[in-house]
Amino acid sequence: MEFSVRAEGLTRRFGEFVAVDHLSFEIQPGEVWGFLGPNGAGKSTTIRMLCGILDPSEGTAEVLGFDVRRAPEEIKRRIGYMSQRFSLYPDLTVRENLEFYAGVYGLAGPALRGQVDKWLDRSGLTDRQGAPARELAGGFRQRLALGCAVLHRPQMVFLDEPTAGVDPTSRRQFWDLIDRFSDEGTTIMVTTHYMDEAEHCDRLAFISDGRIIAQGTPAAIKREQMPGVVLEVRTDRVVDALPVVEALPAVRDAALHGAAIHATVDDAGAARPLARALIDRGFRIEAVEPILPALEDVFVALVERRGTGGPPR
Ligand SMILES: Nc1ncnc2c1ncn2[C@@H]1O[C@H](COP(=O)(O)OP(=O)(O)OP(=O)(O)O)[C@@H](O)[C@H]1O
Ligand SMILES: [Mg+2]
Repeated sequence: MEFSVRAEGLTRRFGEFVAVDHLSFEIQPGEVWGFLGPNGAGKSTTIRMLCGILDPSEGTAEVLGFDVRRAPEEIKRRIGYMSQRFSLYPDLTVRENLEFYAGVYGLAGPALRGQVDKWLDRSGLTDRQGAPARELAGGFRQRLALGCAVLHRPQMVFLDEPTAGVDPTSRRQFWDLIDRFSDEGTTIMVTTHYMDEAEHCDRLAFISDGRIIAQGTPAAIKREQMPGVVLEVRTDRVVDALPVVEALPAVRDAALHGAAIHATVDDAGAARPLARALIDRGFRIEAVEPILPALEDVFVALVERRGTGGPPR
């Protein structure tokens, strides 16, 4: 199989409103493919179409070689889906939740028990298998939910904000599990609002207002898709300097990144007047220089450009 997912002109309307607007993209087998975008951009709607649970209004998509409209049942059997508001049964134990979902996917007997034991072990939940799901802390709940979605060993997994609201250590443990699937050849499509997770993906697409506005590897997106130039501004008192930088007409966006300010400008020529403006107000400048943008810089710049007089849609 050449592609795990191939979407062409994939579109979904709700009444007059276009939630997903002619998306075209491909996901290769074994890839970890990240889907980023502001709230309401159309990520979950796209995933629901790919999982065969929501009909497209227009366009086509194939998942694992099956058409989402003609063969949704074939797709459902071969994928795992962890929805954004996944539900565990709070009164069932960890083990019972896994057994229930494994049963839904047609596992039974020793095969079922074997898969459940394996997942408990892999996800560090063996000691908690007898606890009711409602008593689990966030990180454990996410891992249990992932287990429920993958016990039947799907070829492809759709994860819709699987780590939302979870602490950094738990997020890292969750990504270790994802990496392991990917090493075993499972294709992963994952949505996230965390840039460190986005960096971790093989390829990404940014979506805004239902449209893909950039896609590629994280490195290529940073190298090629930044509209404008990011200047790193290193100065004393960065917090006081930020509003000064933001107010300059040449600056489209500015934000703190650690101990420096990242200022997005149209071209690197803006560096000198920017430095001058800070010096005039008594700041000591260490450096103002163009840098490779962070993913977040590209993302914010692309989304804002669309919002304020970007190219016509
Ligand atoms: N069943 C529905 N009926 C009407 N509008 C809907 C429906 N489902 C989604 N929408 C709208 O479609 C748009 C895209 O929603 P979607 O849930 O796909 O966004 P998202 O990118 O997943 O956002 P988030 O990051 O908040 O999860 C939103 O404006 C949403 O209100
Ligand atoms: Mg969503």
